[in-house]
Amino acid sequence: MKDLLKFSLFGSFATAVAASSGDAVSGATYFPIASSRSLVPPAQRLHARSSAPKCSNAPSTLSLSDPPYDNYFYSDCNVAAQAVVTSPLPQSNLSLIGPRLIVAWPAGDSGVCAYFAPQNGVNGTLSIEMINSTAGQPLGPVYTAGSNSSAPPTVGVQGVLRFNASATLTVPILGSIRTIRDFVEGPSLLRSEIQDAIKFVAHNDGSASLQRTWLDNVTSTTLTFAPSNGTNNKVTVSNRTLVLPAGDYLFSASMNYPQLTALKPASVLNSASRNLTNTMSGQTAALSFLSYSEKLLAGAWRFLTYFGRDSMLSALLLEPVLSSGNGSAMEAVIGAVLERVNRTDGSVCHEETIG
Ligand SMILES: *[C@@H]1O[C@H](CO)[C@@H](O)[C@H](O)[C@H]1NC(C)=O
Ligand SMILES: *[C@@H]1O[C@H](CO)[C@@H](O)[C@H](O)[C@H]1NC(C)=O
Ligand SMILES: *[C@@H]1O[C@H](CO)[C@@H](O)[C@H](O)[C@H]1NC(C)=O
Ligand SMILES: *[C@@H]1O[C@H](CO)[C@@H](O)[C@H](O)[C@H]1NC(C)=O
Ligand SMILES: *[C@@H]1O[C@H](CO)[C@@H](O)[C@H](O)[C@H]1NC(C)=O
Ligand SMILES: *[C@@H]1O[C@H](CO)[C@@H](O)[C@H](O)[C@H]1NC(C)=O
Ligand SMILES: *[C@@H]1O[C@H](CO)[C@@H](O)[C@H](O)[C@H]1NC(C)=O
Ligand SMILES: *[C@@H]1O[C@H](CO)[C@@H](O)[C@H](O)[C@H]1NC(C)=O
Ligand SMILES: *[C@@H]1O[C@H](CO)[C@@H](O)[C@H](O)[C@H]1NC(C)=O
Ligand SMILES: *[C@@H]1O[C@H](CO)[C@@H](O)[C@H](O)[C@H]1NC(C)=O
Ligand SMILES: *[C@@H]1O[C@H](CO)[C@@H](O)[C@H](O)[C@H]1NC(C)=O
Repeated sequence: MKDLLKFSLFGSFATAVAASSGDAVSGATYFPIASSRSLVPPAQRLHARSSAPKCSNAPSTLSLSDPPYDNYFYSDCNVAAQAVVTSPLPQSNLSLIGPRLIVAWPAGDSGVCAYFAPQNGVNGTLSIEMINSTAGQPLGPVYTAGSNSSAPPTVGVQGVLRFNASATLTVPILGSIRTIRDFVEGPSLLRSEIQDAIKFVAHNDGSASLQRTWLDNVTSTTLTFAPSNGTNNKVTVSNRTLVLPAGDYLFSASMNYPQLTALKPASVLNSASRNLTNTMSGQTAALSFLSYSEKLLAGAWRFLTYFGRDSMLSALLLEPVLSSGNGSAMEAVIGAVLERVNRTDGSVCHEETIG
């Protein structure tokens, strides 16, 4: 059973939590059986509050380090997000590995990506790292109520990023995971429709933000860097780049797309397997991060949405340990597949295109 869980986790939909720490291994490939495209956000069932709704459970967090990649997961009742910090190692190929921050959300299969370069122009002389702070350990939640009771709140994560040398933010991408992946893994594709929509704003308190409104004209993503306590640093905006003097910066990445409904680690597994949350806490936390009542997700961060083949094979492999019945992981898999089936010929959707 233990081996089965391990195999399934690393062989399929949760793989990618592990694989993505390596960043180069693909948890899924593309075999489009049918595609489904949705521009309509799920029912906007979240209500505006003056402060973040209290969660009955402590946040679920997970850190996976696989240098040059450090992965951090944060999930509570208001938001789920993954952050990946990349910092080149002495042996890294500097034309492939540069300092980079990615924050990815399962909701809307979207994220932000920021590549940094040392201001002195010599690759390899800038290293970045996420540090624990009062803002998070290392990630903490961001929450701002929506402008009215039917507008979703703006949610995300924050943390402190340490730059050991002065840096410029050379390539920002605020878009779907697919858009980010097309740049990171594809032939460095950037779409002007997405890139030109980024607004750069310097604030009076020395911070600066990048903001982009999605193609739906409703949702917006924001990435902010604010000098952290105890420095007189100032982030400057210059020619559509940010310049950050060496030091610590509180970053905040947020957006207002409605979140998915996370399944708790205990409700992902059946009762006979629940002790795995103690004996294999990392893997069950990883599985839980990818499990929502709407769908189970293929690999973080590079897929982070419904993939039909991955869901179905993983559900078969994991059947001995997955929960079943009302509100279960198995129901989420079957429901997600059925929702996306082609009603004409019964073929199953493999990859959905959202975000
Ligand atoms: C559904 O199946 C029919 C028949 O094979 C095909 O013509 C159609 O394009 C499919 N729809 C989608 C969205 O793939
Ligand atoms: C570094 O990566 C580039 C681009 O893929 C490649 O052309 C080059 O040969 C690599 N250098 C080394 C030392 O592997
Ligand atoms: C420096 O880094 C940039 C961005 O990652 C890359 O395009 C370029 O090839 C690198 N230059 C060298 C000399 O490695
Ligand atoms: C920053 O880190 C890089 C990589 O470890 C190193 O080469 C560089 O000397 C460091 N810079 C400073 C100012 O410490
Ligand atoms: C900065 O200092 C203030 C006051 O000491 C504290 O409340 C706040 O959490 C600190 N922020 C960070 C990011 O450390
Ligand atoms: C940051 O805090 C987390 C949770 O308290 C802890 O597990 C981790 O070791 C800390 N990291 C560092 C670099 O101190
Ligand atoms: C609520 O806010 C959204 C987004 O700002 C807006 O589109 C919508 O019209 C507002 N609804 C009401 C009832 O004011
Ligand atoms: C968003 O606004 C642009 C410009 O007004 C318009 O061309 C486009 O059709 C709108 N998109 C949606 C999804 O409403
Ligand atoms: C601004 O950036 C563009 C594109 O990178 C570059 O061609 C141009 O020379 C830059 N302008 C200034 C004033 O730095
Ligand atoms: C977990 O619990 C099951 C039965 O409830 C038991 O058979 C199994 O040995 C336990 N596994 C571990 C690793 O404790
Ligand atoms: C399934 O659970 C939901 C929410 O807890 C409940 O409203 C519904 O009645 C349940 N359905 C069945 C068939 O038990």
